Amino acid sequence: MQAQIIDGRELAKQTRIKLKKKVNSLYEQKSKYPGLTVVLVGDDLASAAYVRNKEKFAKRVNIISNTIRMPKETTKEELLDVIEKLNNDNDVHGILVQLPLPKHLDESTVINTISYEKDVDGFHIINSGKLLSGQDSLRPCTPTGIIKLIESIGVNIEGKNAVVVGRSNIVGKPAALLLLEKNATVTVCHSRTRDLGEVTNKADILVVAIGRAEMITGDMVKPGAVVIDVGSNYTEDKTYGDVKFDEAVNVASFITPVPGGVGPMTIAQLLENTVKAFELYG
Ligand code: GUN
Repeated sequence: MQAQIIDGRELAKQTRIKLKKKVNSLYEQKSKYPGLTVVLVGDDLASAAYVRNKEKFAKRVNIISNTIRMPKETTKEELLDVIEKLNNDNDVHGILVQLPLPKHLDESTVINTISYEKDVDGFHIINSGKLLSGQDSLRPCTPTGIIKLIESIGVNIEGKNAVVVGRSNIVGKPAALLLLEKNATVTVCHSRTRDLGEVTNKADILVVAIGRAEMITGDMVKPGAVVIDVGSNYTEDKTYGDVKFDEAVNVASFITPVPGGVGPMTIAQLLENTVKAFELYG
């Protein structure tokens, strides 16, 4: 079987077209455009690239986008002070602090200083709690994008065996909750899982967010599965997914490429969340 490639760039483009219309109609009501501020601490290369993309696509849908760049030596007090100012700025509806932060800065403290109404990453403890209890909230971008990618190919998630490889707060855990909300039977695997391949082989829907290049090989994929590869493992010459694409493409029914799969949808979802925050709380 040769899998169909799920085109994340195209779906993200369609999402932005709809979003731009919404932003323009909100402007008619509020005489204001949504504002998104990204805070980037340090000089992590991958983070800098993400942030440039966020700026580029925000502008395309008439979101006013700003980036605050701070040196890697920034103290906790300096960073929290910047966040407090953004919390109190009526022109800023979404705040995103790019992760990972330099080691001396505690991510949880920083994230929970962001007003939960402006937490467009959906990482604040209040938004996490709302997600866990099934309430509407600002929800994490990558997992929401994953659900949209799966639904875009006409696959009904209900009743499917979904296996999530990875248990991060950013992707694995919220992805498992969203799949559960869609009535999948969900298994979460991680670095201590025994016989990983045996578990992944039962997955009708396989979401891989483990952060290790090409860890999931073709023999670990169930024939006909939908494979969502969240990995972005950078090397000098190429970006590798967490799935060995050349093998998995011959086994799965649908597969996301890296790049061009999940990544564009994460950014589209961030823009959606910014507009949602603007609508709800702006
Ligand atoms: N670093 C990698 N992915 C993300 C994300 O979705 N949000 C933030 N803030 N940082 C990230």
